[in-house]
Amino acid sequence: MDQVIHPQVTPLAGRVRVPGDKSLSHRAVLFAALAEGTSHLAGVLDSADVRSTIAAVTALGAATRVTPAAGGSLSVTVAGWGARGPVPPSFPIDCGNSGTTARLLLGVLAGWPGPFTLTGDESLSRRPMGRVTVPLATMGAAFTPADGTLPITASGGPLHPIAYDSPVASAQVKTALLLAGLRAEGRTLVREPALSRDHTERLLPAFGVAVGRDEATRACWVDGPATLVAYDVTVPGDPSSAAFIAVGALLVEGSEVVIEGVALNPTRVGFLAVLERMGAQVTVTPAAAEGSEPVGDLTVRHTPGLIATTVPAEEVPSLIDEVPVLALLAARAEGTTRFEGVGELRVKESDRLAAIVEGLAALGVTARATGDVLEVDGAAEFGAATLSSLDDHRLAMTWALAGLGGAAPVTIERFEAVEVSYPRFLDDLRALGAAPGGATVL
Ligand code: S3P
Repeated sequence: MDQVIHPQVTPLAGRVRVPGDKSLSHRAVLFAALAEGTSHLAGVLDSADVRSTIAAVTALGAATRVTPAAGGSLSVTVAGWGARGPVPPSFPIDCGNSGTTARLLLGVLAGWPGPFTLTGDESLSRRPMGRVTVPLATMGAAFTPADGTLPITASGGPLHPIAYDSPVASAQVKTALLLAGLRAEGRTLVREPALSRDHTERLLPAFGVAVGRDEATRACWVDGPATLVAYDVTVPGDPSSAAFIAVGALLVEGSEVVIEGVALNPTRVGFLAVLERMGAQVTVTPAAAEGSEPVGDLTVRHTPGLIATTVPAEEVPSLIDEVPVLALLAARAEGTTRFEGVGELRVKESDRLAAIVEGLAALGVTARATGDVLEVDGAAEFGAATLSSLDDHRLAMTWALAGLGGAAPVTIERFEAVEVSYPRFLDDLRALGAAPGGATVL
């Protein structure tokens, strides 16, 4: 579906509550499926990716009840398979577009006989799975192909623990190994080159499994075997979705918006530090924590005269999904913004590094990707363009903001990709007074 987004001529104003956090929604559903007993999950993101995880755990034998709830979220009741383990379905499990579903499930299924076959859409079938299957195989699981892409068939059983030095800062890799460690006798430990999002480390203890952590070496571990116990989770708002609303407000003159109930986990909100360095007026108002995660409201005011910044590689894991939208904002700042160590963007839902450079060029912005470094020259105005989402939700929303905050309409092809993480994106913009489809001139 093509979506034309027109320049916004009046400020964005008001309060909005973004949908539930995608990473936490996946984990809450999956951990509840692993647990003994029935968990009640509230505020779960209603999106294609999370529905892939819900359908997967249901196919594997968890009893799930899904009820649409306030604000477009889902209430999900999950009676887990617990110590009985997952039951191999007679059909492949379709992970859709969701890398988190596929990689976390590979970790879970590694500890059971199976066989289990995972498939995914075209984009997911291009993404590397060896980063989880190779270390999981050293624990005793078997995968066909051993180091390849979906479809993958997994089979395993009780595993051996490992201490693994991950070459990538990836929460998906870390979580897959920790979940496999629940089926190993002894300590399974993962060390990362930089700290990736730590939702698993925070949420597993709520389900009754202690997670050890050593900040100095960026290591975490579980002592297996261990079984989870049901727990009720309320999922807070997704900071990655909030980042799109925030950048929308920063691009549209005169805007002032409040984004309520956003998860403020430090391993997720690196974009706030970047916005601050760029001179953006963003205020964080902490609220009472929701379960294992800090939460608060963000107030964002349009700020003229933003300045370029450098995002060092250490900061990247905390804003990995926000690079496309930060690159768009950087195009409006004074000076050249550098994003260092962003090679991982090449293996996301699309090759985001190439897509950012090409998309910005189409809008009239100069950007370069050299090795793992992305540079965006600022002080640009966005011109008319037709850009494909490449079936990548974060690109669909980034290019929509180029239209909303630019000088000319932008057409986004295959805009329906937003269903993956933020189906109500345009509705939330409209609630703030935007007329993304063009204002009616009286
Ligand atoms: C996620 C981890 C990140 C992130 C993805 C969600 C997660 O991927 O980009 O959107 O929920 O664990 P990597 O683990 O591959 O960095």
